[in-house]
Amino acid sequence: MQRLVIDGNTKISGELKVHGAKNSALPLLAATILGKTPSVLHNCPRLSDVFAACRILSYLGCKCVRENDSVIVDTANLTHFEVPDQLMREMRSSIVFLGAILGRLGRCRLSFPGGCELGPRPIDMHISALRQMGVSIKEEYGYLDCSIPKELKGTAISLSFPSVGTTENIMLAAVLANGETQIRNAAREPEIIDLANFLNACGAKIYGQGESTIYIEGVKEIGGCEYNVMPDRIVAATYIGAAAITNSEICLKNVKAKDLESVLPVFEEMGCSIYSYSDKIYVNALRPLNCVKTIRTMPYPGFPTDVQAIAMAALCKARGTSVIVENIFENRFKHAGELVRMGANIKVEGKVAIVEGIQKFYGAQVEATDLRGGAALVLAGLSAEGQTTISNIKHIDRGYERIEDNLNLVGAKIKRV
Ligand code: EPU
Repeated sequence: MQRLVIDGNTKISGELKVHGAKNSALPLLAATILGKTPSVLHNCPRLSDVFAACRILSYLGCKCVRENDSVIVDTANLTHFEVPDQLMREMRSSIVFLGAILGRLGRCRLSFPGGCELGPRPIDMHISALRQMGVSIKEEYGYLDCSIPKELKGTAISLSFPSVGTTENIMLAAVLANGETQIRNAAREPEIIDLANFLNACGAKIYGQGESTIYIEGVKEIGGCEYNVMPDRIVAATYIGAAAITNSEICLKNVKAKDLESVLPVFEEMGCSIYSYSDKIYVNALRPLNCVKTIRTMPYPGFPTDVQAIAMAALCKARGTSVIVENIFENRFKHAGELVRMGANIKVEGKVAIVEGIQKFYGAQVEATDLRGGAALVLAGLSAEGQTTISNIKHIDRGYERIEDNLNLVGAKIKRV
C-alpha cells in the first residue's frame, strides 16, 4: 500500500496549475453516453475516479481513449445497460450514469451504491425523481433494475434539498425525454453549469443552469462535442490552504475566482491577501493566521463541504478559536481525529467542530479517512515539525492528480513510498 511521507516545516512559493474538476469530469463522462457521435473532453484530470468512470464506459461498449490531458469517448457501440457491482463500488458517484444510460438505452441495471466514508449516501431523491419521469425502478438483491414502460417524460420535479447528484441525474435523463422537465430547488454548483453547457454544445436545450430552477426541453437526439472541463475549485482551495498553513505566497493558474466566492473571504478573514486576475489567483499568506467567525457548510453558493477539512487544517494553526458547522454530510469530521494526532486541538460534537489554535503541528503517522480529509492531512504535514506519514492515500488519489509532484514543484518535500 502506498503512503505519502512529508518532511514538514516547509514554505512553498511559485506558480501551480490547477487541473480539471473531478466533480465536473465525472458527470461529463457519463453525459457523453447521450451523444451518438464522439466527444472529446480536454483538461480531463488523471484521477482514479476518472479512470473508474472510463472503465464503466468501456464496459458499456464505448471506446474511451486518453490522449495526454484529453479523453475521447466514442459511444457508437454502446450496447450494455448494466454496470456490475465491482465497477459501481470503485466510485460512489457512478450513480450519475443512471440518468444517462436510461436516456440513451431506456433500460439500466446497476448495483445500489451503499454507504461510503462520509456516512450513509442515500439515493432516494434520485429514485423518486426518475420515477416521476416515468421510470420503473425495482430494487432487488442489491441492484436497481430500471426500465421505461411507456416513455421517459418531462415533468416538474421539486427537490427537498438541492442535491448535486440528483440534479445531474435528472438533467441527463431529461435531455432525450419527451417534453419539458423543470427541476425546482436545483443544485446551483458550477459543475452543474459545466454539465449543462456541455450538453447544450452537444445539441441539448437546457436553460436556467446556475439558478434554482432548471428547464430542460427534451430533444430527439444529440451528438458529441469537444469541451474543456472547468478548473477544479476544490483543488484550488486546497492549494490556497497549503499557502495559508505554511505562511507562504503562491500563484494559482487555471482557476476561476468566481467559483470560490464563498471560500476566498474565509481565507481573507484568516489574514491572507488574495488577488485574482484573469485565470489566476495570487495568495499572500505571510502573516500569522487568525481564527474566523463560524464556518457553515452549505449548498452552493454557500461554503462548500468539500473545503471544510482544508479550512479546518489551516484554522488549527490560527490564533484563537474557530467553529465549523458541517451541514451537508453526517460523518465528515473523521479527519479531526487524525489532525489531533498531529497536535491539533479540536473538539467535535455532532455536526459542530471547535478548533482551538495551536503553535505547531508535529509529524505523526496518520491515515487518510476520505478524499478531502486526506488532503487536509497533507497540508498539516507540510507545516508540521518533523516527518508525517499518511497511509490509505487511495482516497487522495481519487481527487488530486499526483498531489506530491504538484506541491513539490513549489517547494514541498513529499515522497510517495
Ligand atoms: N442526499 C440524500 N438523498 C439523495 C441524494 C443526496 O439524502 O438521494 C443527501 C446526501 O446524503 C448528502 C446531501 O444530500 O447528505 C448532499 O448530497 P449531494 O447529492 O448534493 O452530493 P453528491 O452528488 O453525492 C457531490 C460531490 C461531493 C460533494 C457534494 C456536495 C460529486 C461526484 N460529488 O456529491 O464531492 O461533497 O456534491 O457538494 O460531484 C468530493 O469531491 O470529495 C465529494 C464528496
